[in-house]
Amino acid sequence: MPDPVQGAVLAGAGNHHATEAVAGALPQGRNSPQKAAFGLYAEQFSGTAFTAPRAENRRSWLYRMRPTASHGPFMPYGRDTLIRSAPFMEVPPSPNRLRWDPIALPADPVDFIDGLVTCAGNGDVATGAGCAIHLYAVSASMVDRAFVSTDGELLIVPQEGRLRLVTEQGVLLVEPLQIALVPRGLRFRVELIDGPARGYVCENYGALFRLPELGPIGANGLASARDFDAPVAAFEDAETPCEIVQKFHGRLWTTTLDHSPFDVVAWHGNLAPYRYDLRRFNTIGTVSFDHPDPSIFTVLTAPSDTPGTANIDFAIFPPRWMVAEDTFRPPWFHRNVMSEFMGLIEGAYDAKVGGFAPGGASLHNSMSGHGPDKESHERAVAATLSPQKIDGTMAFMFETRHVLTPTRWAVETDLLQDDYDTCWQGFRKAQLPGRGEETA
Ligand SMILES: [Fe+2]
Repeated sequence: MPDPVQGAVLAGAGNHHATEAVAGALPQGRNSPQKAAFGLYAEQFSGTAFTAPRAENRRSWLYRMRPTASHGPFMPYGRDTLIRSAPFMEVPPSPNRLRWDPIALPADPVDFIDGLVTCAGNGDVATGAGCAIHLYAVSASMVDRAFVSTDGELLIVPQEGRLRLVTEQGVLLVEPLQIALVPRGLRFRVELIDGPARGYVCENYGALFRLPELGPIGANGLASARDFDAPVAAFEDAETPCEIVQKFHGRLWTTTLDHSPFDVVAWHGNLAPYRYDLRRFNTIGTVSFDHPDPSIFTVLTAPSDTPGTANIDFAIFPPRWMVAEDTFRPPWFHRNVMSEFMGLIEGAYDAKVGGFAPGGASLHNSMSGHGPDKESHERAVAATLSPQKIDGTMAFMFETRHVLTPTRWAVETDLLQDDYDTCWQGFRKAQLPGRGEETA
């Protein structure tokens, strides 16, 4: 298969895009004409309530060869999978700091649906609050099947191997150091390009991800709206059967169409899948002392009902210059009311010199003490503070307001490190004046 090339894209997060794969397919000046061009079916695809405020409202109109409504009943998927949904009741939430080695790439053919493994989550899929965090390790393209989550939008973070996402609204190529955001309810197929692929998925049950406010930063900085790519319309005119695997209310259901579901010839609106290149993130930090809170690295935020307290923030730790004077430069020790799930796309994270490998993950739940490991701390306090470039690294964090409960798989897998606590042991006790030498 020739190396696929991303064609044209539509730039701009939240923009009102208009795209047609066949000239004349898109109605002008209206959404639902009495007779749509070529006998296409007009279908509204709503990502927010009809009555959501204009600034929040997300919907697109799809013009397709057959209506989505044209399908038979969904039946239980029937295969055992490791996909789980909140509430997570398999094992108790753990106050312990947890860290996992990278999930292995499968030797047998496993596609994206069967290669999803849920690691942790919170909230309740039934009430539209919280999230699930999945890992994927995939060795085969999806063939004649499509996946759709009606439980939440999917933020896909590839760590190894490029993905070709064939969606109802068009095709996006996504590679490590890029992310993809697939709307709730949008059908898509995942094809592999380089062989096996691995990465992370955050399934957001709550309000949609959007760019964070910039506040005193001003009008520019962090992720720029223009760097988000939506696909142009592309369709398959195929009469071959296609299985639709739908995640609905925490369970997988299946039905088979006698045609490709990717038959949208044109669409317009502001609800669409997006791709974003993390290397375009305009990273901001201190130029004096004390680095800011890591919220300065927020790429996307999914707000909750409580102002400033996100259902999920997606933050990255990209290459950047460290210039702070008289400052402990790595992430400081802290306890956080929010819960933090971290992954590593490439390189090393500056708070952990070892044990946190690309493809691995860590979980620091609410109020658990964490920070740099002993070796990273000793190195940082001894360092001569000249300007330093942290390069060749990309870590990320899903930070969420509620405690993340691991799945049974996550606490029973051999990938769970049993010695993570030791990286914070052996710190030398502080020496107070007049109290003699340390004895223990
Ligand atoms: Fe933290």
